[in-house]
Amino acid sequence: MTKRVAILISGGGSNMVALVRDMQSGDHPATPVLVLSNVPDAGGLAKAEALGVATAVVDHKPYGKDREAFEAEVTRVLEAANPDILCLAGFMRILTPDFMTRWGGKMLNIHPSLLPKYKGLHTHQRALEAGDAEHGCSVHEVTAELDGGPILGQARLQIATDDTADTLAARLLPLEHRLYPAVLRRFAVGDRTKVELR
Ligand code: GAR
Repeated sequence: MTKRVAILISGGGSNMVALVRDMQSGDHPATPVLVLSNVPDAGGLAKAEALGVATAVVDHKPYGKDREAFEAEVTRVLEAANPDILCLAGFMRILTPDFMTRWGGKMLNIHPSLLPKYKGLHTHQRALEAGDAEHGCSVHEVTAELDGGPILGQARLQIATDDTADTLAARLLPLEHRLYPAVLRRFAVGDRTKVELR
């Protein structure tokens, strides 16, 4: 049976577009049912609409520090779309244990580092400062530990001597766009074999 996928974004949504395009390309075990943003003017919302995917906004700002209330509204909106899988794609909110309890086991995230290295922010700069020879991105299952769930796929690139955080981010993004759809295709049929790209 086709799996229903909701994608959560906060920004430009290029990974969301890659996921939706792959699901819409035919012969796919999943279908996109909702793109939800916590940022009302996120660029990805118009892109989702152009792709014919329903969109929703739950602005986190009116909730202030009350993460639980924000997430309760996110869950209410998600439940109306009845997703089997949530893909976090540049969704820049830390999630509480309550959200994990509700959606755990169904949630994927893409992170711009070779996890377990560089959890959190500023991953490209940190890889450069560490003098790493390679960098990459990871798709992992979301658990209560920030960027710490089981890794389902990784893509790698060599760091060049003249790379900056910006050039690394720009070179990594096309790899993210290949990796995330490849992992989702497997995850949607219950296959957790790790995807390795380079
Ligand atoms: C991507 O590079 C993604 O890996 C990163 O945000 C960007 C979103 O771009 N995610 C994180 O940093 C999560 N901690 P997009 O909106 O164009 O997909």
